[in-house]
Amino acid sequence: MNHIVETVTFRSDVWVEGISVYVPHYFMPHREFALTTGVDPDKYTAGLGCKNMAITHPVEDAVTMAAEAGENLFTWWGFDPDDFGLLIVATETGVDWAKPVASYIHQFLSLPSDCRAFDLQHACFGATGALSMAAGWICSGMSGGRKALVIATDIAKYEVGSAGEATQGAGAVALAVGAGAETTKRVFSPNFSLNAVYSQNVMDFWRPGYSQNAVVNGKYSIECYLKALGACYTKYRMGGGRSYRQFSYLLFHLPFPKMAWKAVLKLEEIESEISGSALADGELADFYEKRVSPSTFGARQIGNIYCGSVYLAMASLLEVEKDCAAGEEIALFSYGSGCCAEFFTAVIGGRREIWEGKIGLLKALSRRERLDYKTYLEFRKVSDGLAHSESFSVGRIPAGQHIPPELRYMFLGYKRNRRMYITSIAERDYWSDKVRSGAQSQF
Ligand code: COA
Repeated sequence: MNHIVETVTFRSDVWVEGISVYVPHYFMPHREFALTTGVDPDKYTAGLGCKNMAITHPVEDAVTMAAEAGENLFTWWGFDPDDFGLLIVATETGVDWAKPVASYIHQFLSLPSDCRAFDLQHACFGATGALSMAAGWICSGMSGGRKALVIATDIAKYEVGSAGEATQGAGAVALAVGAGAETTKRVFSPNFSLNAVYSQNVMDFWRPGYSQNAVVNGKYSIECYLKALGACYTKYRMGGGRSYRQFSYLLFHLPFPKMAWKAVLKLEEIESEISGSALADGELADFYEKRVSPSTFGARQIGNIYCGSVYLAMASLLEVEKDCAAGEEIALFSYGSGCCAEFFTAVIGGRREIWEGKIGLLKALSRRERLDYKTYLEFRKVSDGLAHSESFSVGRIPAGQHIPPELRYMFLGYKRNRRMYITSIAERDYWSDKVRSGAQSQF
């Protein structure tokens, strides 16, 4: 049976009560990347809409970034770990075939022992799958009044010299999800009742188990994305959903920023058929500038962060768009290669003061450092080395060189098949001192 629109009625008081991001400390401008590699910079800036690419330090992975985003959320929003009864980490760049990233995060964030903790994987769709599961867990009554923590974390990585390399990025987004929040804690309420889903088995993007890098059939992937968007939007409209033109803002999963414009063109193509009237070119460009462009800010500065992409768009909207206020209705489109996609809506809950200074996107961008192409390649090499078994030794712990000063969590390599992490600034200083003094003691 083909469900045109899912008909479950959700509690209307499921709220995202906090959202914080983690952005890597280093970035490489696309212009510099293009010039160094012999590409016309306009291809990346005008053609793909990119500006800067976030680069992770070799001591960072999906675990450390998720922990940093979670710490930010707890510290800046004032949550208590005991508030949470569910942790779902959405990632497509996890670090183990069996052990979830969530197990590490459960410990690092001191979550209670009766908090469920697991990962959810479906390419870039994972976080939307996790958010809808969290909302369902709350609506079902299983939560017992506790909150869910959803963290999206990924490092987008392709072969050096491949077409996908220009769309790399990295970052994490943490969301606290609850119900019945006071008005002073309402950020946005996702609505998964009037939505539309599309799934199909396609080989547009994947990462084979033996590879650190993703494989992408880029042009085909864009086709699959637009096909899924078209199918979702048509189902959503046929099921009683409103025209995309009536939403205050539209947020898209962004493998690269220009994808948002391609997506709007697709929506307009379908909408003009349904409504029998088309927007003039100027009107469409104006619509895009006002209602879509603000949410592409993060992707332009960071690149693709896979699972967190559409929530980075939300973080961008909240931080960058000064007019975004309570009651604004938003349409979101989440796409995960492979593929699974969902068109759903959300409403903004409160005033700017609720999230001002607590999301962390602008703050993180303001303290980033620029990296040259040569160092970017060196970072990749060290990172690939750390991914091998028995790569840990005290002598290899970098004693501060290039390590971002704000990092609380660091991956140091494997020892007896276990991933070794530093989990606080104090621990980091302790080991840095040991390295400086030439000590060879082990963890
Ligand atoms: N000046 C201005 N624009 C230029 C240009 C120049 N000198 N050179 C190229 N362009 C434009 C192209 O016209 C194209 O725009 P269009 O799609 O609107 O026509 C765009 O820049 C990209 O050029 P293209 O030749 O298609 O680039 P490519 O073959 O290197 O591939 C991607 C681009 C996006 C397909 C590739 O980077 C990729 O595979 N990215 C990963 C996508 C992904 O992550 N998918 C999975 C998740 S959804």
